[in-house]
Amino acid sequence: MSDVKVFTLEDLQAHKSREDLYLLISGKVYDATQFLDEHPGGDEVLLEEAGRDGTEAFEDVGHSDEARDMLVKMFVGNFDGPTKSSAKASAGGSTTTSSSSGTNPLLFVVLAGVGAFLAWRLFLA
Ligand code: HEM
Repeated sequence: MSDVKVFTLEDLQAHKSREDLYLLISGKVYDATQFLDEHPGGDEVLLEEAGRDGTEAFEDVGHSDEARDMLVKMFVGNFDGPTKSSAKASAGGSTTTSSSSGTNPLLFVVLAGVGAFLAWRLFLA
């Protein structure tokens, strides 16, 4: 069985300092403390992403495969909590109706077509 540690948002927020820095990227938690001084993009950006989901910031830079390989050595555990993507999905609670029809316009078009066809058949009958 796996004994990988699972971090909550509170766990993550306890590691936001220069002496103790964890980063959350793509649902995984990395200890970047030793890496702060080595990061080619500087320590500031890493400190900025501490305690929150840094996936977008990390991906926006277009990090190389080499950079991604470095993550493997820093891995300390998985994250159990709201990530940016899941937060977006659940944040849409009140707008679920509009976003679901917005995300699947094809279904709407097909249903409208079937409805129009049935109305036409009934009209002719
Ligand atoms: C532990 C996680 C990270 C690792 C291992 C890492 C690693 C690297 C590496 C190896 C480079 C050199 C270019 C490349 O190979 O892609 C780089 C550049 C860069 N990184 Fe990161 N990075 C991490 C997190 C972040 C985060 C969260 C940000 C937030 C914005 C960031 C911003 C940048 C920037 C702006 C550069 C470009 C620096 C330049 O070319 O002047 N990195 N990073």
